[in-house]
Formats: sequence, structure tokens, C-alpha cells
Amino acid sequence: MALAFRLNCLVLKPRICSLFRQPYVNSSTTELKKGIKGTYIAKKIPAFKKLEANKRYSWCECGLSKKQPFCDGSHKGTEFKPIRLKFDQSKSVLLCQCKQTSNPPYCDMTHVSVMFSSLKDIFKK
Ligand code: FES
Repeated sequence: MALAFRLNCLVLKPRICSLFRQPYVNSSTTELKKGIKGTYIAKKIPAFKKLEANKRYSWCECGLSKKQPFCDGSHKGTEFKPIRLKFDQSKSVLLCQCKQTSNPPYCDMTHVSVMFSSLKDIFKK
């Protein structure tokens, strides 16, 4: 299944498949595109992560981190700050990477509308 998807991406639909893999980038520049919340759209799909008990994590809110979905300090100079996470027990979570969620740091499926916006941009070309 995964191989078939990759083959399909490589041969048939590279522009469509790029919707899922790449950051949402302005087509005329290499800058990340901002979403309606003013944060940058790092990726258009959530990250499934298993977070260890009693370990601290910082979820990137601004979208500029190169270590998505976690913070690497790139938010300095912006109005955004990372959201700290720590659990008593290990937990598997779906972390937002489009940075448009209404329930940060968790995915609330808002990325689907981000993908549709990307589709509109692709078919405008
Ligand atoms: S990845 Fe942002 S809402 Fe799903």
C-alpha cells in the first residue's frame, strides 16, 4: 500500500502528493505561508507521537521550528511561545503541525481546510 502510494506520487500526481509532505510555501518565494491565526503552516498533516511519562516537551506554536512538531527556539522575536507538555503516564497523541488548530497542541482536523486551500492554489496555476 505504501509503495503503491509512493509510486503514484512519483509518477502520476506529484503536485497533489506534495500537499501532504511539504510545508505550505508561497509559490513565488521560499517563505512559509501564514494561516488565518497568524502562525506559519509548518506541515499540512498532524504528527502522531508517543510522549514519555515525566518528560518535558515543547510544542511549536509559531510554525517556524525545524524540529516539528516541537520547538527549536525559532519563535524568538515573534508573538508566539511554545506550549509545554508533561504527562504522568506515557501517552500517544496527535500533535498539530498546521498550527491552525483551535485546541492546541492537538490536531482538531483544521488541517483539512488548509489542504483544500492548497488545492485551490495548485489548480489556479
Ligand atoms: S494538523 Fe493542525 S489541525 Fe490537524
